[in-house]
Amino acid sequence: MKTVFVLNGPNLNMLGKREPSIYGDQTLDDIAADCVKAGKDLGLTIDFRQSNHEGHLVDWIQEAGEAAAGVVINAGAYTHTSIAIHDAIRGVAPLPVVEVHLSNIHAREPFRHVSRIAPHAVGMICGFGPLGYTLALQALAARL
Ligand code: DQA
Repeated sequence: MKTVFVLNGPNLNMLGKREPSIYGDQTLDDIAADCVKAGKDLGLTIDFRQSNHEGHLVDWIQEAGEAAAGVVINAGAYTHTSIAIHDAIRGVAPLPVVEVHLSNIHAREPFRHVSRIAPHAVGMICGFGPLGYTLALQALAARL
């Protein structure tokens, strides 16, 4: 079975408590369970991780380049700022990467409208809450 890394960035460990009017009341553990279930249906092994540290995300993208068939990433606020994550994704090309966000980043503050990941992603899914992770896995599976 192909392995897909599902990587989560800063503050996503707080889901369920964090700004529920924006991010909903599901926890990251709930989303991880959804991903494992979707992975089973799609014939993918899911390796689900979260870190608040930019360098961990860089390390995991590099690791995915060796060990995974693709990546789904919600880099949280690093989406908008991190050239290191941008470079890491470029560095593992052509590994397919799908960007996901719970909220519709384009309907929020202007600083969230820029993604440093999008130029090197297969595509981006945002605004559908936790369902976005399942949609991202379906999109990735269709690509693999
Ligand atoms: C987010 C959107 C980001 O702008 C924000 O910094 C997050 C979560 C989302 O999933 O909607 O932490 O990536």
